[in-house]
Amino acid sequence: MDNLLFYQEYEAFYAMARTSAAFAAYCREAFGEDFSQDGFSDAAQVSRVLRHVQPTGDLHMLDVGCGNGKMLAWLQKRLGGSIHGFDYSTQAIATANELHRGDFRVGVMGEIDYPENSFDLITSMDTMYFAPDMAAFVGQLRRWLKPNGMLFVGYQEGDVQPRTTDAASTVLAQALRRWGMPCQVEDITRETYDLLRRKRRAAENHRQAFLAEGNEDWYAMLIAQTDCAQVPYEEFAKSMARYLFVAHK
Ligand SMILES: C[S@@+](CC[C@H](N)C(=O)[O-])C[C@H]1O[C@@H](n2cnc3c(N)ncnc32)[C@H](O)[C@@H]1O
Repeated sequence: MDNLLFYQEYEAFYAMARTSAAFAAYCREAFGEDFSQDGFSDAAQVSRVLRHVQPTGDLHMLDVGCGNGKMLAWLQKRLGGSIHGFDYSTQAIATANELHRGDFRVGVMGEIDYPENSFDLITSMDTMYFAPDMAAFVGQLRRWLKPNGMLFVGYQEGDVQPRTTDAASTVLAQALRRWGMPCQVEDITRETYDLLRRKRRAAENHRQAFLAEGNEDWYAMLIAQTDCAQVPYEEFAKSMARYLFVAHK
């Protein structure tokens, strides 16, 4: 897996997240919940899932790029059901299996497989843009969903994928159209700009705790990640965009 984009970086990231109290406190302040985020999935975004899904008692949920599973466990607390997740990080999956009762697997997008019609809900926050072949991967997700099952995706442009003109022109929207999956999209670029600025303030507030743990490199990385929002919003939005997609089989 060493040849996969950012693989070693994520192994180091989830090893840090496993032990750092400073990082957990930073996440709570920046995102409203500690999901060990390396992205943008704050509580306000993730709770939008609850607008679309009712607790049935027998809900089967899969998270693609689940990290250490904290977001899935948060959803399970509100929706019940069973949780499944995969991530290529062995560190992340080891922690997920320690912390939660669920089906957590080390796996790579495009390689791992599940039986057809397995899930009522598939979530994926800030991960799908790593898929080597988006159309093929969306086809696979569609196959794993039960009839009328829902796909919820947090999708960013300007990092891994270049900024396109609008949500309809993203690689993800094209793949959803290719598989005839109707979708609603919410443009949350402005919200993301505000979140990035909140992330920076939260990192600064916890600087001393990061330093005391010997985690100054992670503190520096968190600050560097937010540099892109140190410009006026209009400039930021020229190179970055973020969307929430809700699609159905
Ligand atoms: C930006 S992080 C997002 C993590 C989490 N979903 C969140 O919102 O905080 C991307 C995640 O995808 C995983 N990942 C990256 N490329 C992957 C791949 N090709 N296959 C499986 N997982 C991958 C990383 O280990 C990491 O957990």
